[in-house]
Amino acid sequence: MRILLTGASGYLGTALMRLIPTWRPEWDLHITSHSIEPSDDMPNVHHLELRDESSVARVMDKVQPDIIFHTAALNAGDAQEMYGTNAQGSGYLARAAARSGARLLHLSSDVIFDGERGNYSEDDAPNPLTLYAVSKADAEKNVAASGANAVLVRTSLIYGFKPLDPRTRSVLRGEIPNLFTDEMRCPIWVDNLCEALLELAENEYRGILNVAGTQALSRYEFGVKLMRALNADSSHLIPTASSQSGVIRPRDCTLNVSRAQQVLQTKLESVNKVIEKKTG
Ligand SMILES: NC(=O)c1ccc[n+]([C@@H]2O[C@H](COP(=O)([O-])OP(=O)(O)OC[C@H]3O[C@@H](n4cnc5c(N)ncnc54)[C@H](OP(=O)(O)O)[C@@H]3O)[C@@H](O)[C@H]2O)c1
Repeated sequence: MRILLTGASGYLGTALMRLIPTWRPEWDLHITSHSIEPSDDMPNVHHLELRDESSVARVMDKVQPDIIFHTAALNAGDAQEMYGTNAQGSGYLARAAARSGARLLHLSSDVIFDGERGNYSEDDAPNPLTLYAVSKADAEKNVAASGANAVLVRTSLIYGFKPLDPRTRSVLRGEIPNLFTDEMRCPIWVDNLCEALLELAENEYRGILNVAGTQALSRYEFGVKLMRALNADSSHLIPTASSQSGVIRPRDCTLNVSRAQQVLQTKLESVNKVIEKKTG
């Protein structure tokens, strides 16, 4: 099996790069790098610019993957760059996957919803509020329209301990003191998500699947739990209302994971359970 992992320098990509060789040592793993040009002595590392269709085609032709873990994305910055990377780039990759017959695991996000209701199922219609969310919602449309053998994996806040995810690291350092009490999410432990992705790579499921943690928490509650798990002081965290922030953000993006729990052998975990395992 030849595997292509996009976004290998990202948080999820790094975790997959660490876990795939232990879980599937027989797989021939190829990864993409974006901001760093790989040197010639790294035959399994390929430069990829998702905004450039010919770059996507070059990597696909070279690797000829059976399975693609598509984690690369841009979550902030220039709107055009973000749309080009997330929506158009995912479309280029999906169309190349459709042509070659590769199975595509595409990473999507809970923020494609407007957050007015919560507990979203796979059948609920996205209504993105932010530029990032629009780019991810359109990415889904492009992947679905490509006809690729694809799973659109909708996930939530990705967290982990070794290494810490960038958000938690910033909270720990006091860089993000204000945490919203009215933004609900279903955070997922990165190893749990990787396990689910690996299983999806090898099963026959196609279409949208919510893969998130089983516990709905506000960003504030989540931050406090993580600080306690890390034996860190949480008194610097300021409970803040997103509704008072003046910024338009989706409030309740909790995902209903009952379909994933039927489709997958992988048990999706609650934050409490993960913390208990890590610290117990
Ligand atoms: N993190 C979360 O809490 C969360 C929640 C829901 C959904 N997701 C989704 O899960 C996936 C993984 O998220 P993550 O947080 O692990 O991402 P991340 O850490 O931000 O990493 C993004 C990766 O994409 C690469 N990249 C950026 N622009 C690119 C371009 N134009 N061409 C090719 N590669 C490019 C980056 O490479 P360089 O660093 O070299 O630029 C990096 O390796 C994403 O699809 C994200 O939308 C994440």
